[in-house]
Amino acid sequence: LIEPGGTIIEGTSGNTGAGLAIAAIAKGYRCIFTTTDKQSQEKIDVLRGLGAEVLVCPTNVEPEDPRSYYSVARRLSEEIPNSIYLNQYDNPSNAQVHYETTGPELWEQTEEQITHFVAGAGTGGTISGTARYLKEQNEDIDVIGVDPNGSVFYKYFHEGVFDEDEIHPYFTEGVGEDIIPENMDFDIIDDFVQVEDKSAMQMTRRIAREEGLFIGQSCGMALAGAAQWLDDHRSELSPEDIVVVLFPDSGFRYLSKTYNDEWMRNHGFLEKKPDVTADEVVNLRRKQTDVISASPDDELGDVIEEMTDKGISQMPVIDDDHEVVGSVTETGILNHLI
Ligand SMILES: Cc1ncc(COP(=O)(O)O)c(C=O)c1O
Repeated sequence: LIEPGGTIIEGTSGNTGAGLAIAAIAKGYRCIFTTTDKQSQEKIDVLRGLGAEVLVCPTNVEPEDPRSYYSVARRLSEEIPNSIYLNQYDNPSNAQVHYETTGPELWEQTEEQITHFVAGAGTGGTISGTARYLKEQNEDIDVIGVDPNGSVFYKYFHEGVFDEDEIHPYFTEGVGEDIIPENMDFDIIDDFVQVEDKSAMQMTRRIAREEGLFIGQSCGMALAGAAQWLDDHRSELSPEDIVVVLFPDSGFRYLSKTYNDEWMRNHGFLEKKPDVTADEVVNLRRKQTDVISASPDDELGDVIEEMTDKGISQMPVIDDDHEVVGSVTETGILNHLI
């Protein structure tokens, strides 16, 4: 398709591009990627770091608009000799690789017991390829797609309508579309749920804090969608069910966004802390000047208990005449004990 030294061209939210850039280094190809201005700077930096050229196109234009990242990629492939536009949206190799790898991996790792598969969809390659393999093994496996509010998949799945009015800007990266890619096979998907940006972002942070999994935005969206679906279908579930939710990328790509409190607050994704009045600050200061102290007659055990209780590591000892006569410190106590 292309000769050595040729150029790979792709429209990518960043992750497919990173994989392609690495493969291109190994094979000696050049990469040009088009992406949209809503993608995190970290992803663009990774692509450039891997030697790719990146053209950032506007997000809020129609797919047919000559400025869209689809149109720019297509045009470049027509203009640059010895180049190929891989087109992950319509290229069947995308879903096929999930049929050959992701599906078997989940089937084997769950010891053939998987009952539900939940994933976000962008090109549809992950969910369609994985679902095709899983359903060939056990047609009763439920496959649930998760769509960000602002994308067309949810309504298309439920009502069979491509509704342009559904399309509006959203922040969750890598998932949802304003087109129906050929890799999106709705016939093998059992249900679709829709998730708001705010729930996706908050769930992303919650998984990091509660599970220690430092994941990306679309993972939080997938889990928020899974939780919603499971809640709605509680009565049909059994304790033996094994639900797999796919987490496609890492949190490091969203350090300046989802994992940044200021960005979260500016976009209304974090509850705003109530404003503190000057009066409250003064009162707080006053309270802080009340010194926690011990008296010379206190038992050491009681003092240690008080220090533990208040979360402090030292305490002055003040006598009845309000004179400081010494101090108790954690290190002092330890030195005595050892
Ligand atoms: C972060 C992220 N999540 C989810 C997806 C969706 O996967 P697919 O395109 O296979 O539907 C992508 C696709 O690039 C992605 O980058």
